Amino acid sequence: MQALIQWLSGPAVPNTFPYSPVLHEFHLSGKHFVDKSLLSLLDSARRTVAGQPPGSDDATSRELTDFLDVALDKWDGRYDYRSYLALRLLRLPCGAGEQTLGAQPADARRARDQLLVRLVADTLAFELAAAAHTTELLPQDRPGPEVVVKRCRLGIRAVTPALTRLGVADSIATGHPTVVAASLHTIADDLAGPGDPSLRLSMLPVHVTHDEYLFIRVLQGYECLFAGVADELRAAVTTLAGKTPSAAADRLGYASDLLRTAGPLFSLLATMRSESFRTFRQYTEGASAIQSRSYKMIESLCRAPQAERLDSVAYLSVPEVQAQVRGGQPTIDETYRSAVSDGRLTGAADILVQRQMAAFADALTQWRRTHLRVAVRMLGSRPGTGYTEGTPYLAAVSTLPVFTTVTTEKPGADQS
Ligand code: HEM
Repeated sequence: MQALIQWLSGPAVPNTFPYSPVLHEFHLSGKHFVDKSLLSLLDSARRTVAGQPPGSDDATSRELTDFLDVALDKWDGRYDYRSYLALRLLRLPCGAGEQTLGAQPADARRARDQLLVRLVADTLAFELAAAAHTTELLPQDRPGPEVVVKRCRLGIRAVTPALTRLGVADSIATGHPTVVAASLHTIADDLAGPGDPSLRLSMLPVHVTHDEYLFIRVLQGYECLFAGVADELRAAVTTLAGKTPSAAADRLGYASDLLRTAGPLFSLLATMRSESFRTFRQYTEGASAIQSRSYKMIESLCRAPQAERLDSVAYLSVPEVQAQVRGGQPTIDETYRSAVSDGRLTGAADILVQRQMAAFADALTQWRRTHLRVAVRMLGSRPGTGYTEGTPYLAAVSTLPVFTTVTTEKPGADQS
């Protein structure tokens, strides 16, 4: 607090902002319980930064503003899924004014792989530090040593495909999962470049329960994957509308792989104790992944949602996506159908695209089923934090067809 008062009484230069003491205060109680006087000072800091003329260090100033917006979401009455996960700080899709990772498609794929590896490596590093009693962060309900080993094993499995794509899978140590996890942390540190998003600023749990760290990082990891999948699907739509629609098969294949190989992330999350989850979720009301922009982009890029769903809480929770759908956002379903009816996609090329669409539909359906299973286990019959009745909503949406032109059951068969 003293450090913040001092900073405010000086020139308030963004790159000297006392992040560490502020984070420490938040971590002592959890964001939900932070002292109002600290929040008031942070609000003054935000006004001060907003009033400063644009300078040479705009990136630092933007990072500070984004951090303050995340720290003050409950104070402002704006707390939601995107602010809970600090998506803007991680440069993941979160609506207006967002900055994304990587300018070119290859850069974006690489940047997302790096971020995913860093997020998982960071959560395993936290598990190891807690087990070694070298951190006081989130001290409530620490897991036992067997769970820590299991988390290490599953976390490593979840990032192995990304490590392979990044060409660093061979650098990782072999042996006991905790040794491998420690080496993953070193590799992840090396992957981070000077302008990359700061992970430490993106961890503001609402409470002091140990497992909330894992929960936040797994959600952030999935957001990273969803953003990548949405990019691939957008490219598939453009390709299907162009001269060589068969090239969409590669983008669909990449998207399926991203979703499918991330399965161990759910297994990692499933190691969370449901009692721990229920403890911290008392303070996450209003933040639900029903507000995930990238997930709804994925769904609506595959095919246009029916009016009933578009008008429901599912899309009311993501107004920008709802507006894009209403504005006639092209879909894979529709561009595929046109490519076939125009005679641009025929024979073996058509079958190849159909197969990849069916594989993607399979991967997404599988994701939905796994999500439902984990949610039932953690939540039981309690309502969701996104104002649905909870798992009955998930059960209903898990059977929604991904495409209307191709189903998951009959890859290769023409059902249009
Ligand atoms: C403890 C684990 C989890 C539980 C209990 C859970 C529960 C729920 C519930 C009840 C909903 C319905 C909306 C609401 O009222 O909140 C929902 C929606 C959703 N969840 Fe989860 N969830 C969990 C983990 C995850 C993870 C790790 C992700 C990955 C990002 C995720 C992504 C989603 C998405 C995208 C939706 C919106 C689905 C739609 O609108 O069709 N969830 N979740």
